[in-house]
Amino acid sequence: MKEIVIMPGDGIGKIVLQEALRVLDASGFQAKYIPADIGWEFWKTEGNPLPQRTLDLLEKHRVALFGAITSKPKDQAAQELTPRLHGKGYEYYSPIVGLRQHFNLDLCIRPCKSFPGNPLNFIRKKNQGYEEPCIDVVIFRQNTEGLYAGVEWTNPPAMVRAALETHPKMAKFNKIPSPDLAISTRIFTRSACHRIISEAFKHAQAYGYTSVTICEKPNVIRETSGMMRQEAQQIASEYPDINLRFTNIDAQMMWLTKNPEDYGVIVSGNMFGDIVSDGFAGLVGGLGFACSANVGTTCAIFEPTHGSAPKYQDLMPSIVNPIAMILSACMMLDYIGEHQRATRIRDAIGKIIAEGKLRTYDMLRLPGGQNVLENGAVSTLEMTDAIIKRL
Ligand code: NAI
Ligand code: MG
Repeated sequence: MKEIVIMPGDGIGKIVLQEALRVLDASGFQAKYIPADIGWEFWKTEGNPLPQRTLDLLEKHRVALFGAITSKPKDQAAQELTPRLHGKGYEYYSPIVGLRQHFNLDLCIRPCKSFPGNPLNFIRKKNQGYEEPCIDVVIFRQNTEGLYAGVEWTNPPAMVRAALETHPKMAKFNKIPSPDLAISTRIFTRSACHRIISEAFKHAQAYGYTSVTICEKPNVIRETSGMMRQEAQQIASEYPDINLRFTNIDAQMMWLTKNPEDYGVIVSGNMFGDIVSDGFAGLVGGLGFACSANVGTTCAIFEPTHGSAPKYQDLMPSIVNPIAMILSACMMLDYIGEHQRATRIRDAIGKIIAEGKLRTYDMLRLPGGQNVLENGAVSTLEMTDAIIKRL
């Protein structure tokens, strides 16, 4: 039997993960689920939001479902630490970043596909009336390098300055005192560029997408975006049936609402991928629908894009939309080769949305709160029950 690590985490992560497991069970998927600890509770009690025992379980089983965690600023984190751990040098760091680094989860894959009938879908005004384009985009975001790799300084050491000053364009900064200089680097490696673009092309081929778009900015950021471009051109030559396209991130954000249906697979570096994936997610339902996968060569973790939504964690019954988590579980099924089952679950979700009878509060654009149920929204459990019934 397949063994899958489950990391509910904090807040609504615990709620939605449970719902995804109910759907997986109802689909007939049989697995042994192995619970693992992550999140705020473990920071407070152990000084570590990502305990070694969790890393060990992931190392062993290699596939995981993850709900969401709560993070708080450093000073608040220090205050909430259990008194016996105070002053012992514990420092909070994000367990999500920790997971990405530990397992080199270098691909972040975020599908953004509209379900017909979702009232949150993007619509476009026409001369008369409007139209609702069918969006089906998969974003491949490089997850470990680039501007988010953390190689940065304010008041850079003299050696760093000296190295930078070997670049002619640094001349205009030469007179700035170091304490007034902030530097964040954007480091790309050829191997990481190669891997994400290759995986994007493989995905396009496997799932019938006709184009791969590299969304960067090579005309300005010549070296890093330029390396992506070069690698893409090389890899594209192995896929004559897939169209290689290039867009600049700024223009892409503008075109997002002009012709979103014209894109298939999109590849970006870390920060641009972060931006463009949120942009597309907003066109197909937002946080209640946004699923994702963090995939390395030895481990893959599937999670909704949303966080732990502490505002809603104690509402009984729960009102949050379980679909983002359930779709993340479908990505997990695809990853382990259970495509038919994943498709059946997605179809069941599609039918519920198309029927238009059951809507969670976000789909009705209601401000969250207990009264949403009186105002026509269904609860988390009711939405999941309906999906299960359709299976
Ligand atoms: P959030 O994603 O938790 O919630 C923002 C808002 O989005 C919510 O107040 C709610 O209105 C809506 N929302 C989120 N999930 C929803 C769902 N399933 N259904 C319907 N509506 C939903 O982001 P926020 O409030 O910025 O952060 C809360 C905590 O979560 C913080 O501690 C933050 O650090 C953490 N976080 C964790 C993430 C993760 O585990 N991957 C990602 C983002 C934030
Ligand atoms: Mg983001």
